[in-house]
Amino acid sequence: MSILVTGGAGYIGSHTCVELLNHGENIVVIDNFSNSKPHTIDLIKKITGKDFKFYEIDYLDRKSLERVFEENNIESVINFSGYKAVGESLEKPIEYYINNVSGALILLDTMKKYNVKKFVFSSSATVYGDPDIVPIKENSRLGPTTNPYGNTKLFIEQILKDLYKSDNSWDIAILRYFNPVGAHESGLIGEDPRDIPNNLMPYIAKVATQQLKELSIFGNDYDTKDGTGVRDYIHVVDLARGHVLALNKLDKEGKGIFIYNLGTGIGYSVLDMVNVYSKVNNVDIPYKITERRKGDIASCYSDPTKAKEELGFIAEKTLEDMCRDSYNFIKNNK
Ligand code: WQD
Repeated sequence: MSILVTGGAGYIGSHTCVELLNHGENIVVIDNFSNSKPHTIDLIKKITGKDFKFYEIDYLDRKSLERVFEENNIESVINFSGYKAVGESLEKPIEYYINNVSGALILLDTMKKYNVKKFVFSSSATVYGDPDIVPIKENSRLGPTTNPYGNTKLFIEQILKDLYKSDNSWDIAILRYFNPVGAHESGLIGEDPRDIPNNLMPYIAKVATQQLKELSIFGNDYDTKDGTGVRDYIHVVDLARGHVLALNKLDKEGKGIFIYNLGTGIGYSVLDMVNVYSKVNNVDIPYKITERRKGDIASCYSDPTKAKEELGFIAEKTLEDMCRDSYNFIKNNK
């Protein structure tokens, strides 16, 4: 029996493949390399010393997807496939809805055809929109989201709830990531955006290695401890471990639909991140304060209690670990 990992060559997908293989699981990976690199598949094998089947297909291609189910004994699916750039989604909403929502629908429909009903969905804290209160619990108000990317996550969550209501033989885990950062300790895999990074840590990493001149801090007049935005950064390896625990729950505890925040429960500001990154790696991070970025919120961090109580999930890695591993990766992959 195998776990199908869609988007398994991507940032979070590749780290999850490593954790699954290290836990002795059999995996089958699909990816179309729209936002990842073929070499990552070899690196996952190098890190773990394990082999697995890989298909270069687009999960929107129903025929190819069916071939994967025909040729393998798939017992569960983790769906990482999806575009994830907030800004880009505002410019290309149709591409985001086709790729993320239609893709998920085709995947779920194919699973149903082959009677595979264990599904882990890569969702995001973005579904909470601008939270009324923090820390955020799973039963906090959802939305309104500020961009099509966030809408795709919200819509797919609703699809999954409707699916479970129609047929409670499904076994579904919805994992809402806060801000995934960092890289595997080997320095072989990590976040490797093709062009100028949108997100804070990969941008800092390029400034730290003089690939970019300076960081623009988007506003320091928010209602936070130092005026800069506060987020719940979680190490990508902790996040990957959360997926293994979520799959264990689906295997052991029978049918249901389960929703978990995957975060540390600690909020760090942009200036916290800059200072820790600089100190831990002994590098300069020149920055300037600029205007706020449209759509940004002041503060967003999780209450991680439910994942701890029901999955046994606790994020172990510190902000120092995140900064050290990020720098180690980018130095090896300039
Ligand atoms: C973090 C903080 C910025 C860049 C987004 C998505 C979310 C998830 C993670 C996919 C904010 C500040 C950033 C920069 C800055 N993606 N910042 N200068 O916006 O919290 O979340 O990425 O799942 O869904 O919404 O992450 O890293 O872009 O920003 O000052 O060059 O850093 O204002 O306060 P964000 P981020």
